[in-house]
Amino acid sequence: MRFDFPNGFRWGAATAAHQVEGNNVASDFWLLEHAPGTLFAEPSGDACDQLHRYRDDVALLARLGFGSYRLSIEWARIEPEEGCFSRAALEHYRRVLACCHEHGVAPCVTFHHFTSPRWVTADGGWESERTASRFARYCERAVAHLGDLVSIACTINEANLPASLALTGTVPREGAKRRLPFVAEAARRCGSDLERFSPFLLSDPFRTRDVMLLAHRQAREALKSGRGDFPVGVTLAMQDLVAVPGGEVKRDEARRESFDPFLDAAAEGDDFVGVQTYSRTRFGPAGALPPEPGVPVLALGYEYWPQALEGTLRYAARAGVPLYVTENGIGTDDDAQRIAYYREALSALVRCLQDGVDVRGYWAWSLLDNYEWLHGYRPRFGLVAVDRETQARTPKPSAALLGRVARENAFDPDAFG
Ligand code: BGC
Repeated sequence: MRFDFPNGFRWGAATAAHQVEGNNVASDFWLLEHAPGTLFAEPSGDACDQLHRYRDDVALLARLGFGSYRLSIEWARIEPEEGCFSRAALEHYRRVLACCHEHGVAPCVTFHHFTSPRWVTADGGWESERTASRFARYCERAVAHLGDLVSIACTINEANLPASLALTGTVPREGAKRRLPFVAEAARRCGSDLERFSPFLLSDPFRTRDVMLLAHRQAREALKSGRGDFPVGVTLAMQDLVAVPGGEVKRDEARRESFDPFLDAAAEGDDFVGVQTYSRTRFGPAGALPPEPGVPVLALGYEYWPQALEGTLRYAARAGVPLYVTENGIGTDDDAQRIAYYREALSALVRCLQDGVDVRGYWAWSLLDNYEWLHGYRPRFGLVAVDRETQARTPKPSAALLGRVARENAFDPDAFG
């Protein structure tokens, strides 16, 4: 049963600068990765050396059949010290985006994907409203240089993630930074203190959400009034939140506190919402529940639940703007499991489209096996394997299958795998 996607539906794969470029030394995460007692499994180091290998990666993505590359540009490279904008860094990204166009690949550009310049994080970071205006100023400068080459813009990646993690009990409600001695050490190393030092994932989750919401609105304004004409939106971490009997109140609270503020902001003035789904979370009367017995649990601790994408797209549709699936995928060493995951996830996407949900594109996470934050290089989300010694890229069978879907703009579950 083959399903033909609407004309113009975008197919791509995604990465983020810090996870693939390598040596992002002016960023706050670099500092955290190297602080004594760090909880990061290993430092990001050279990552996938995409800083130097982007031409090969873009060519490979195009060869596989994808028409879009979602990538992020790195604030810490573009503005390594306050007000000091690097023309060379902007020129680098101009070359990257131009390279995409040369290969017929539309770049979907994210302006913030978890990492920030050290000086931002040292001076209030994502708990300070000053960061919102600083972020908007960086967006303004970046778009003045790059805007004519941007096809789609995402202001902030998973701006709701800290709130979402707090509501599912994964991080403490007051934020993790005070509980982790290595964060204080990282703060000290950049001349800050724990009060002012506020990296994205470790700060007060609800304060961060509010600052990110403000930053998104200001950045949207900056991007829309700058060079170029492209859709602008925010991306959200959206697990499918499911209530078991009696869990509706807690489930609804999580949706209200994590998703709704951004969906409401999108309804006011965004061109799309980016939905990023990996799994589901069940809620009981007391809050989030652990994985259901019998359901496989993946390396990152959540359930193997590829059909989650259906619930998240249907929920996000309430924003009333087009949706893009800006990330979806699985961290596994077993590519047959990855193929099965994508088969289920694409089937869920098709059901949504058949019911009239306005989804305009799909980006797999990730193009490459890359740096998975706290977990280091162990979890492998890539369609393409990366040899950690040689940096050699080897596409997996899942890459060919998804690439064919992209090329044909059609999906047949029986022919997928
Ligand atoms: C993030 C990616 C991350 C992926 C897999 C998303 O939350 O945007 O940076 O690698 O999930 O865990």
